[in-house]
Amino acid sequence: MSIGKFTGIGVGPGDPELLTLKAVRALHEADVVIAPRTEKRDDSIALSIARPHMRSETEVLELIFPMVYHAESLSDAWKENRRIIQQRLDAGQNVVFLTLGDPMFYSTYIYVFELLQGCGHPIETVPGVTAFCAIASHHGMPIVEGDDVLSVVPATISPEKLEKVLAVSDRLVLMKISRKFEELRQRLQKHGFADHALMVSKCGQPEEEVHEDFLSVRAEEVTYLSTILTRRNQSVSATASGVGVIKNAKKAILAVSFGTSVVATRVANIDLLERELQVAYPDYEVRRAFTSKTVRARIAAEEGIKVDSAQEALERLQQEGFDEVLVQPTHIIPGEEYDRLTEAMMEFHQNGAFASLKLGRPILCQEGNVPGQVDDFMIAVEALQTQLPVCAEGERTRVILMGHGSGGHVADRCYDLLQERLETAGLPVFTATVEGARTFEEAVEWLEREQAERVVLMPFMLVAGDHALNDMAGPEEDSWQSQLTEAGYRVESVLRGLGENPAFRKIYLQHVTEAVPFAETAACDCK
Ligand code: CO
Repeated sequence: MSIGKFTGIGVGPGDPELLTLKAVRALHEADVVIAPRTEKRDDSIALSIARPHMRSETEVLELIFPMVYHAESLSDAWKENRRIIQQRLDAGQNVVFLTLGDPMFYSTYIYVFELLQGCGHPIETVPGVTAFCAIASHHGMPIVEGDDVLSVVPATISPEKLEKVLAVSDRLVLMKISRKFEELRQRLQKHGFADHALMVSKCGQPEEEVHEDFLSVRAEEVTYLSTILTRRNQSVSATASGVGVIKNAKKAILAVSFGTSVVATRVANIDLLERELQVAYPDYEVRRAFTSKTVRARIAAEEGIKVDSAQEALERLQQEGFDEVLVQPTHIIPGEEYDRLTEAMMEFHQNGAFASLKLGRPILCQEGNVPGQVDDFMIAVEALQTQLPVCAEGERTRVILMGHGSGGHVADRCYDLLQERLETAGLPVFTATVEGARTFEEAVEWLEREQAERVVLMPFMLVAGDHALNDMAGPEEDSWQSQLTEAGYRVESVLRGLGENPAFRKIYLQHVTEAVPFAETAACDCK
């Protein structure tokens, strides 16, 4: 007896000639074809697309897959469907599951795929052409070109999320257009996305409808399966208020980080911060630079992504004719990395490369001794308070911060100033550093004096990268976590960078607002 195989195929948007050869072969070899239906619709479009490629004797099962899927508490309908599929596979039949468009793209198949993991049969997924790809080719409308950023947006997302997407995208694919069409149209218009919008319903099917004049579409003409392709009007950029304005000066914010090759923490901290900067300053183009040569080299080797150094990023901005450049370091202290950054900026300042070149402060810079200046250290302590653990009653919990530190650099004393403020605020927190004067040994002594029972470790760095993952929380004997565990404490490590705390992102945003022209940049107080 043959072994039953499960194949999920994308049948494309409607034209039966847009199936892949692999999908056609799977259909031809199928014993059973499953045409999924939701409760809402009674005809299977996917089946009518696949039909010309199926043998007449192939059995068709039209199963209802409810839209709602909970892996933990499967509904009866899902359980029953799994039972039916399993039975067919165990009987040695080849089962093909149909999906409109592509199986891994907003599809019921994604849940079916998850559901069948461990079913004991081979599972294969065959990609399909999505509606937006077909529309683009059919109507001669490029999806993305050059450096364009494309967002694929289900129109069902919240208005807040949609506003953020509209602020940072060059081109859009909008799907699941539904009842709130009028509201959606107004938002697109506001952000300059209405002029080139093309809306297509039932793409590639005989009843295909094309609306080239987006502004005159009536809400009742819009069906759930409509897709909109659009790009931002070239002369319009969004503003904080969301009202389109004509671009004049070319302005950029260069976010300069040490960088990290740990992708997850980079996404959770640096990407997020840069995105928030872009949303907060929509008439600036937010660019990235990493100061660490090692990190840049590793990202290039491992991910094939080239990240600019500060020098390279500034060169490109100059070549591209930017008028105003604001550099915001994401560093914690004005240490070595910060010095390297200001050195790089000096050249551009002296050459008059930009009409305006500004620099924002790192997290810890001003002490607030000068009238009109805030105390960065106290603000950092306040931000930190939002992420401190709740102490269980009767248990002595103490927090150790892992700062990076910069041994021998004058700015290393920023960590002492931070510690002073933590103590003033009466917080049970000790600042130690990896490479600075405040050592882990001192933290251990402090814990003893404090008679701590439970210890929470957290990085005082933008990202939870190498230092946090290895030196702080790694499994090796000499990690902070291992040493403290060995010493009898109940230890927890918080593997989140400061960038994951909205209060710290807010500080960076504030420092952008308070950036000063480069020449007038006074050295930070702790230097
Ligand atoms: Co380091």
